[in-house]
Amino acid sequence: MAPPVDVFAKAREFERLDQLKAARELGALPYFHVLEGPTLPVVQMEGQRRIMLGSNNYLGLTGDERVKQGAQDALNRYGTGLTGSRFLNGTIDLHVELERELAEWMGTEDAIVFTTGHQANLGALGTILGPQDTVIADSGDHASILDGCLLSRAKLRAFRHNRLDLLEKRLQQAQEDGGGILVVVDGVYSMEGDVAPLPQIAALSKQYGARLMVDEAHGLGVLGARGAGASEMFGVEDQVDLRMATFSKSLASCGGVIAGSAEVIEFLRIAARPFIFTASGVPAAVGATLAAVKICRSDEGRELFARVLENAAYLRNGLTELGFQVRPTASMPDGSEIITPVVPVVVGDDWQAVFLWKALYEAGVFVNVAIHPAVPPGGALLRTSVMATHDSTVLDQALAAFAQAKQGFEAEHGPLPQPS
Ligand SMILES: Cc1ncc(COP(=O)(O)O)c(C=O)c1O
Repeated sequence: MAPPVDVFAKAREFERLDQLKAARELGALPYFHVLEGPTLPVVQMEGQRRIMLGSNNYLGLTGDERVKQGAQDALNRYGTGLTGSRFLNGTIDLHVELERELAEWMGTEDAIVFTTGHQANLGALGTILGPQDTVIADSGDHASILDGCLLSRAKLRAFRHNRLDLLEKRLQQAQEDGGGILVVVDGVYSMEGDVAPLPQIAALSKQYGARLMVDEAHGLGVLGARGAGASEMFGVEDQVDLRMATFSKSLASCGGVIAGSAEVIEFLRIAARPFIFTASGVPAAVGATLAAVKICRSDEGRELFARVLENAAYLRNGLTELGFQVRPTASMPDGSEIITPVVPVVVGDDWQAVFLWKALYEAGVFVNVAIHPAVPPGGALLRTSVMATHDSTVLDQALAAFAQAKQGFEAEHGPLPQPS
């Protein structure tokens, strides 16, 4: 008989372990750094003041008194946790109100609130799709989309990021295979901050009889006049069948939503396992989200959406002037530039990205490092992102730190990729 295989062997043999150890020894591990206060434009992190350019708190609402009060009131009224599923004992009136607000904001018939955004994608994709169907996904889609596709056991046909010719090929193949077809893309891609060309994707989906789902995690609360996301900005809301969003970005909380037709949302409520078989989000998270949604839907929302995009443009221009290569933006059909809060600095090599990160961290700026598989191999980048509440003084300080880090880095490691 063959000797038994230890299922834990993976933990010892994982390919990334050596990299992790080496980065730790060099004092250059960019992960798991500890915050000692709230996620605001400037944070206290490991005993030092650092400018936060690595959060998804796009509107800066985690520090807003009304959002904190929403969390506090929900905590006081409902206690610390709901200790059960939305399906059974875990639904409170705040969930019902939040679902109504979100459906109205996103202009859909109905909406369903999950405990996290990851579960929203798992729940929607894993329930709507079956083994007889095909799901067509962009290669840049978020991991939770991929997980949902795998859970569904539908045939997964991926196409290279934003390549409409390849999307069309996948649609042709799916049509030949038979079964239902769902195209699923991110409205705004989380690492590179670029957008999906939704008008063309919606037209192709329609042409081939496919349904379309858009993950608006990084678009809700940012893009479009109402802040309803990339689908609104492109004017294709009525051509998108399902929209997903999370509460862990602009909405300054934790949770996720699927918005769409009443028929599909009702189906998810009674059939989505990641909805039924998990505990409901804590009341404080739901209360905070509801308060944040109300701010977004007020006149103040528009000001915040504009401010975060102004800050992104300011940082983007500043970094380009310093000689960093920033991933280019796309344009709207009318030629205007599409800005998102994510400003990715291209580095290329994983280790070079880690060393540049370290130089910045020491200069008092926190950013995120994205290496494969978060980005394609050789596409390592520093993912910077802004908040509506960053001011130009702080952004100028961050740019000065970038200039200092670049100089130190290039003296030791050679030139960084130049602006193209
Ligand atoms: C595009 C996208 N979709 C889904 C998620 C998952 O959301 P959550 O963090 O709420 O689980 C994220 C979060 O990182 C994301 O960036």
